[in-house]
Amino acid sequence: MYEKALESKNYIASKVATLPTVGLILGSGLGVLADKINNPVVIPYEEIPYFPVSTVEGHAGQLVIGELQGKTVVAMQGRFHFYEGYTMQQVTFPVRVMKLLGVEKMIVTNAAGGINETFLPGTLMLLTDQINFTGTSPLIGKNDERFGPRFPDMTTVFDKELLAIARQSATKLGLANVKEGVYLGLTGPAYETGAEIHMMRGMGASAVGMSTVSEVIVAAHMSIPVLGISCITNLAAGILDQPLNHAEVIEVSNRVQDEFLAYMEDIIATI
Ligand code: 6GU
Repeated sequence: MYEKALESKNYIASKVATLPTVGLILGSGLGVLADKINNPVVIPYEEIPYFPVSTVEGHAGQLVIGELQGKTVVAMQGRFHFYEGYTMQQVTFPVRVMKLLGVEKMIVTNAAGGINETFLPGTLMLLTDQINFTGTSPLIGKNDERFGPRFPDMTTVFDKELLAIARQSATKLGLANVKEGVYLGLTGPAYETGAEIHMMRGMGASAVGMSTVSEVIVAAHMSIPVLGISCITNLAAGILDQPLNHAEVIEVSNRVQDEFLAYMEDIIATI
């Protein structure tokens, strides 16, 4: 896999003048940040050797590389999900490639359901930690020491300095809807039952979604400091007496877009 990631990296590097130092993974409805990138080099996933191809609605499926707030960034506009049928290694392959490109910090974003009842739709939750509830790991199989150790440490993956910067930025911008909590990731694609959400609340989770945890594990494997931000698009099952739907997820992330953009730009300027 290392050789494949190198080939992907070489292809991407051949298209840009400056290599990125900040990696961005943009979740459902949050891909607009990539439109703010100056002098963008846009590379559709299907052009990149060994990249999987995205299929979900609301995901563009391309890398955007360029300048944002004085930094050279690489943004994934659309990500790969386990529920689409990709392996965990495929889902996390772009994170491997980002590391080889020279990315030193990563911001991972997602749309998530609120388990904490005080997290109304439109809340932006900084991830203080995560629970991998997918039942699997992208690191299963032979370990390649060129990427990282067999048993990577997960205690410091959500970087304290990045979290401090994100907190300061929220205060500076007066964003009262920025909260903090634990993200629980599972496979989907069915949303959770009320009983499952009840269980997850007991486990200490504040938000739930179908992405992120495997990408964060792979970032930890390669010692990339991560900042995680969830956009809470809806309250999870069993809180309100109404069904969940994907349209609501897209609608809410569209609504908080301007705030999300300003927040991300300020964080990127500072990190
Ligand atoms: Cl309620 N659950 C999951 N698994 N993912 C979500 C969600 C809920 N809301 C947005 N994404």
